[in-house]
Amino acid sequence: MLANNALVEEATAALNDAVLYYQGRPIGTVAARDPEADALNYDQCFVRDFVSSGLFFLMQGKPEIVRNFLVEVLQLQSHERRMDCFQPGQGLQPASFKVIVQEGEERLLADFGEQAIARVAPIDSCFWWLILLRAYVKATGDLALAHRDDFQHGIHLILQLCLEARFDLFPTLLVPEGSFMIDRRMGVYGYPLEIQALFYAALRSARELLRSDDVGYTYLQAVETRLNHLAYHVRAYYWVDLKRLNEIYRYKGEEFGATALNRFNIYPDTIPSWLIEWLPDTGGYMAGNLGPGQIDFRFFGLGNLMAVIASLADEVQSNAIIALIEQCWNDLVGHMPMKICFPAVEGQDWRTITGSDPKNIPWSYHNGGNWPVLLWLLTAATLKVGKVELAYKALAIAEQRLSTDRWLEYYDGRHGRLTGKEARKYQTWTIAAFLVTRTLLENPDHLALISFTEDPNVIACTI
Ligand code: GLC
Repeated sequence: MLANNALVEEATAALNDAVLYYQGRPIGTVAARDPEADALNYDQCFVRDFVSSGLFFLMQGKPEIVRNFLVEVLQLQSHERRMDCFQPGQGLQPASFKVIVQEGEERLLADFGEQAIARVAPIDSCFWWLILLRAYVKATGDLALAHRDDFQHGIHLILQLCLEARFDLFPTLLVPEGSFMIDRRMGVYGYPLEIQALFYAALRSARELLRSDDVGYTYLQAVETRLNHLAYHVRAYYWVDLKRLNEIYRYKGEEFGATALNRFNIYPDTIPSWLIEWLPDTGGYMAGNLGPGQIDFRFFGLGNLMAVIASLADEVQSNAIIALIEQCWNDLVGHMPMKICFPAVEGQDWRTITGSDPKNIPWSYHNGGNWPVLLWLLTAATLKVGKVELAYKALAIAEQRLSTDRWLEYYDGRHGRLTGKEARKYQTWTIAAFLVTRTLLENPDHLALISFTEDPNVIACTI
């Protein structure tokens, strides 16, 4: 069923070439090794990018590099981080790090966003770190690593940072612009789905990894409560299907008090015309963002797939999300799995939302580009709902172009037919996503490393 072993060999060799060594030990993979482009920061190990490589190494029975990575990133958590004179919170983990040589000695230099273009905060890093730590423990049985004092302390710092009481009425996490895979201005500040799905998966991971001693128990209780509230809120209010769209279409505005149906005061006029044509009769998805007076109806790939994988979406919703992807295949997968978000923002919206960003022109890069890294998430999500044939279909599409185009970072165009305008070649998470996908299909038991089953404690959604 899965032929094309030459491709696997090529990808495995390219992944091994991307391994980053520190004091003689493998500790991560660099983001890309494009022989024709300036490295910029692509010669660094990005925490979010490494998760794809790390999962493959775990599935291969090579956990050492993942262990080293987890330990090093944990240590970086306590490093000096400073944006001019301001010092961001301690639980923050770096977006990326690199090896430098100082006075003849190798050191790690981390970027907590203070170097990054536009100085964006990598809020997803600590979530990915927790998710990968849990995958490592599942793959190796080495719970002792997560139970070490320094690891427990690191988990506590992360939880302090995201469970802290704030000026907020929602259980979702309020974040600044560009705080995850989309690390540029794209109208994804506030309560973006991508962050909520990763937040949920990270809290589920923490619940499995926290020691239940005195201090740990307090954190466990806080995690438990937040998980329930978060799942309730996202399932109830982010969900979009034809039934919900019709409700929103007839919403009344200005409702005050506890009986309000239109809790967030969404005006029907904000329903975009593309959605009315596009939304299938069956199927549904989680909206991209939700806040006072605002639903962002764009479809975001990672958020929806992660919602399925982590059981943030309930079973009915998970099936509906995959059903929507199947029906809107040409738009969401097209010529390369799959869209980072759909549709693109264009014209005046593009100017206002992206700040006229030439890298994010319509149907390019973050603004409606197709990203091969999402292939492994698509595979995991379809496996989880028993629609593995879709993963095979997506893989077959990807296999036609990945090697020929030299493992591109992303694709452009309405249906992903164009090679990304500024896409890097030999992008490591593209290579790793292909390998993770192949390995998952060969042995679906690996899905347990990354997925979560339905949490029976989640409060049933009544609206
Ligand atoms: C770009 C992407 C980001 C990724 C990084 C390294 O900045 O937007 O998601 O982590 O490249 O590949």
